[in-house]
Amino acid sequence: MKALIIYFSRADENYAVGYIDKGNTEIAAEFVQELTGADMFKVEPSVPYAADYNTCIEEAKQRIGNAPIKEKPSDISAYDTVFIMSPVYWGTYAPEVETALAGLDLSGKTVRVISTHEGSGLGSMVDDIRRICKGANVDSKGLAIKGSSVRTSKSTIEKWL
Ligand SMILES: Cc1cc2nc3c(=O)[nH]c(=O)nc-3n(C[C@H](O)[C@H](O)[C@H](O)COP(=O)(O)O)c2cc1C
Repeated sequence: MKALIIYFSRADENYAVGYIDKGNTEIAAEFVQELTGADMFKVEPSVPYAADYNTCIEEAKQRIGNAPIKEKPSDISAYDTVFIMSPVYWGTYAPEVETALAGLDLSGKTVRVISTHEGSGLGSMVDDIRRICKGANVDSKGLAIKGSSVRTSKSTIEKWL
């Protein structure tokens, strides 16, 4: 079994934890990596989000449906399982995740979804991923981790895995 983690995460000013050097989802993604040995692919916006939280909220809204990224994951044929990890932005994954997944052939692969959030849980991430990742076996039981609790979430992730 070979696994890949495709994740989005943003440092700087964060909703519940102030200014951080590493985003909540990235912390969780590193736990998944430590527990599974999976490879990691970080989705990065072509233009970084503002460091200021309130500006970022508005920028994210503008990017829904049009969120250019620096690089797309390319050949993922070697992987059986793909973890998709994102903060909840406006009720679903960050818009850059949709750009990263568009056109990616995940058919026949197991896809598992993890969000970090501040109240919305997984939002509509699992349904939205099912919509874009045609033919993938999307695990209906995603994992939602509160951003403010991510630093102590390793055992929760281990149980879910
Ligand atoms: C643009 C933006 C939109 C957000 N929208 C939601 C939301 O709809 N529901 C929610 O529970 N949290 C929302 N949050 C909070 C983030 O999901 C949460 O802080 C997350 O852990 C951030 O992950 P990161 O540090 O990896 O970027 C939002 C945060 C940002 C910056």
